[in-house]
Amino acid sequence: MSKYNFDEIINRKNTNSLKWDFAKERGKKEGILPFWVADMDFRLTNEILNPLIDKIKEGIFGYSDPKDDYYEALISWYLKHYKINIRKENIIINSSVVSSICSLIRIASKENDAILINEPVYYPFKLSILANKRKAISSDLIIEEGKYKIDFVDFENKIKNNNIKAYILCNPHNPVGRVWDKDELEKIVSICKKYNVFIISDEIHADFCYEKEFISIANFDTNYAIVSALTKTFNIPGFKIAHAIIPNEIIYDNFKNDLDKIGYSQQSIMGLVASKTAMLYGEEWLSELKDYLWNNILYVDNYLKTYLPKIKLIKPEGTYLIRLDFNEFNLTHKRLSDLIEKANLWLDDGIIFGRSGKGYQRINIATPKVNIDLMLKSLYEVFKNL
Ligand SMILES: Cc1ncc(COP(=O)(O)O)c(C=O)c1O
Repeated sequence: MSKYNFDEIINRKNTNSLKWDFAKERGKKEGILPFWVADMDFRLTNEILNPLIDKIKEGIFGYSDPKDDYYEALISWYLKHYKINIRKENIIINSSVVSSICSLIRIASKENDAILINEPVYYPFKLSILANKRKAISSDLIIEEGKYKIDFVDFENKIKNNNIKAYILCNPHNPVGRVWDKDELEKIVSICKKYNVFIISDEIHADFCYEKEFISIANFDTNYAIVSALTKTFNIPGFKIAHAIIPNEIIYDNFKNDLDKIGYSQQSIMGLVASKTAMLYGEEWLSELKDYLWNNILYVDNYLKTYLPKIKLIKPEGTYLIRLDFNEFNLTHKRLSDLIEKANLWLDDGIIFGRSGKGYQRINIATPKVNIDLMLKSLYEVFKNL
């Protein structure tokens, strides 16, 4: 028996939701069904909400900083969920993973230096590199035996030929859903060590691994920073709370200096409370949520195989995002976009994740199954006879 009702439809319209309320501003039709930005259409459990409500009732929201109990909750979370020991003196709490990535890019490289990524990948990686006037070099992922992989020959060549200073690893990988294996991470580490490349490991999706264990970069002896947050896990990105784990003392100090340079100091009090209570009281909810998400993934996979076999899906090992391949229809980019719009769906166009994304669409399946059904039936109506 499940304790939580993830089937509940919650009207998110007129809540300032980026996903539901900004169609017109972003060039989409009003009333379009959104499956794009990575947040979830599920309500938080009362175990987490009640402490937040209590905090609101205090009525005073002054400056605040994390106390030891916050660090203890985070350290326990890492030990329990990823089996690694992190140390308080290596942790920095800030407001967003992407801003951590920007800081680390500035610290690990100079203007015009090159930073490596694996496209298709979460597009703010490239935007952050370019915004900081560095060059973005991609070692594009390949598909081999029905699986997304890193082409390690290309990976090493790109590092060598471009004098790469830092590499942004996405683990689990958004949008392809790979949870990198131990031997893949060993290869990454060994090549990065050989060329003195700093590893920025974005592990924000670590709590969404299905039938597979997540392995953090912290298990390896290399020069790295983990950038992460509990905001994906517990659907609280609006609270703007994240953390970086930086064992290298010099880089840690430089990160702190970088925060000083942009005038960032105290954290959002509600972010601290939400993130801590979620870690303390959200385990059961998360466990049921993961089952629900995995069932949504299996459902989409099965539906496509049965009714729309030309649309291909390589089942993700992690994240709540899926990448659908429409290339068998041989459509131009414009025609595919028009058809997705005709289906009244707001998806993320594969092309934004890198040049290898042509013909792909990313779909966020963290929504009640009724919406998944609507999305699949809309796709069916538009693509069934093509
Ligand atoms: C891989 C990855 N990193 C970072 C983020 C966003 O993190 P933040 O909102 O803390 O900047 C996302 C959100 O989708 C993501 O998928």
